[in-house]
Amino acid sequence: FSTSTQYDVVVIGGGPGGYVAAIKAGQLGLKTACVEKRGSLGGTCLNVGCIPSKALLNISQKYYDASKHYKELGIEVEGVKMNWAQAQTKKAETVTGLTRGIESLFKKNKVDYFVGTGRLNDKNTIGINLNNGTQQVINSKNIIIATGSEPTPFPGLNFDEKVIISSTGALSLPQIPKKLIVIGAGVIGLEMGSVYQRLGTQVTVIEFADQICPFLDTDVAKAFQQSLKKQGLQILTGHKVVSGQNFGTHGSVVVEPVKGGPSQTFEADHILVSTGRRPYVDGLNAKEIGIEFDNKNRIITNSHLQTNIPNIYAIGDVIPGPMLAHKGEEEGIAAVEYIAGKGGHVNYDAIPSVIYTHPEVAWVGKTEQELKAANIKYNKGSFPMLANSRAKANNDYDGLIKILTEKDTDKLLGVHIMNAQAGELIGEATLAVEYGAAAEDIGRTCHAHPTISEALKEACMAAYDKPIHF
Ligand code: FAD
Ligand code: NAI
Repeated sequence: FSTSTQYDVVVIGGGPGGYVAAIKAGQLGLKTACVEKRGSLGGTCLNVGCIPSKALLNISQKYYDASKHYKELGIEVEGVKMNWAQAQTKKAETVTGLTRGIESLFKKNKVDYFVGTGRLNDKNTIGINLNNGTQQVINSKNIIIATGSEPTPFPGLNFDEKVIISSTGALSLPQIPKKLIVIGAGVIGLEMGSVYQRLGTQVTVIEFADQICPFLDTDVAKAFQQSLKKQGLQILTGHKVVSGQNFGTHGSVVVEPVKGGPSQTFEADHILVSTGRRPYVDGLNAKEIGIEFDNKNRIITNSHLQTNIPNIYAIGDVIPGPMLAHKGEEEGIAAVEYIAGKGGHVNYDAIPSVIYTHPEVAWVGKTEQELKAANIKYNKGSFPMLANSRAKANNDYDGLIKILTEKDTDKLLGVHIMNAQAGELIGEATLAVEYGAAAEDIGRTCHAHPTISEALKEACMAAYDKPIHF
């Protein structure tokens, strides 16, 4: 054991929460280190999450367009083929480029990077089992826990990442499967299901709830499900998996309607389990030193992101809230600002979510069913993409925009977008929500023509008055 430098901040975990916190701490002149065991920075998001999934979504969409849509536009291409090995190489290059970029940012901001597993010895001491086989102990005034999350296993179906796969296995399949079963029609299930469906795989998605993505506004979820069905995804909502088997080369599941009825058996090359993720704190020794957790094994923090041990903070997927990279990043910056005695800021009412399928689905704020349940009086307006000229010109007009506003004040309470560029357009809506805007503020803002963003303006006009083009 060697004891070294006294730090101001040590971050355990180098994902989007942790690495952003470390960079911010470096920028504020705090003596900072980050401990990450994976061997590369960026966490789940860059290595086996956001980035590789978006790379495959982009590649598979281009292949699908070239095979299915170009002809209608007068572009005749012959012999379109998928070179899966090259697609995987491209995906890996994207990931490596970005993770190395964070290493450079650490150097630029004087953040020490320890490649190893961090363990809390006490409230100021971290023991590190370095990946090179040696050990080190470091001390810090403040510690930020950013150890993230892992896929929740499905009872009776153990992950082997060959037949029973999590998103990690799904991102690196050795070949394009003939058949894929997906358990859970949430974000991972529909994104990864879309990737393979576009490449020719027969995809069957089994969802327990009676709508896909139960957290979505119901109108949007219905339109989204129809769209995915049209593309060829087989989706069974209101169904549960009662048992499953791994035959080594393929797997099977027995599925029943939740409300009762005859069971069906499905076989496939792989079974993707995507029924949610759970916080990850293995080997951290957090409970043992007295850090409090809630009943979902998430670390409890106060409004300054402090645990019950005040110099230990926690951020990202390991604490309550949406498991999203940008949420963790906001918390990372805020935690460091609190440590530095500055005012941190995370507005949990203005965190956008995006599903990167085609069309994309994005939202911020409340759904209509949430407003009803909370007895809040509201107005609503919606606008179909079919009536947006840019979407028509692009031959890509599936979807709608739905706006929910407070009845008396017209203040935006929820914005729900389904269209080809929902993930970009939600930025404008989130800014509006952050600034407490009314629908009329967007409705009276001049939007360029012809753009997809005009549909947001018109949906807002529909909420307080009437749209022009529908
Ligand atoms: P993580 O990114 O999980 O990072 C935690 C890190 O801590 C890990 O690298 C881990 O190795 C390390 N660690 C854990 N314990 C220790 C220890 N004791 N010592 C040292 N290191 C340790 N979110 C989005 O916002 N947009 C998306 O498009 C998106 N796509 C996703 C796609 C997939 C397939 C998946 C699985 C997730 C996706 N997410 C997306 C979610 C996003 O990846 C997470 O919300 C985000 O990574 C959480 O960041 P984090 O920093 O809290 O934790
Ligand atoms: P999820 O919470 O998005 O979806 C899980 C789905 O599984 C839900 O529809 C749920 O009703 C269903 N389900 C739960 N138990 C079931 C059962 N026993 N049988 C059938 N269905 C069941 O979780 P997912 O897709 O695993 O993703 C995990 C996390 O990763 C999400 O919370 C998300 O925030 C994050 N993520 C974000 C992405 C993005 O921002 N684009 C992309 C991928 C993941």
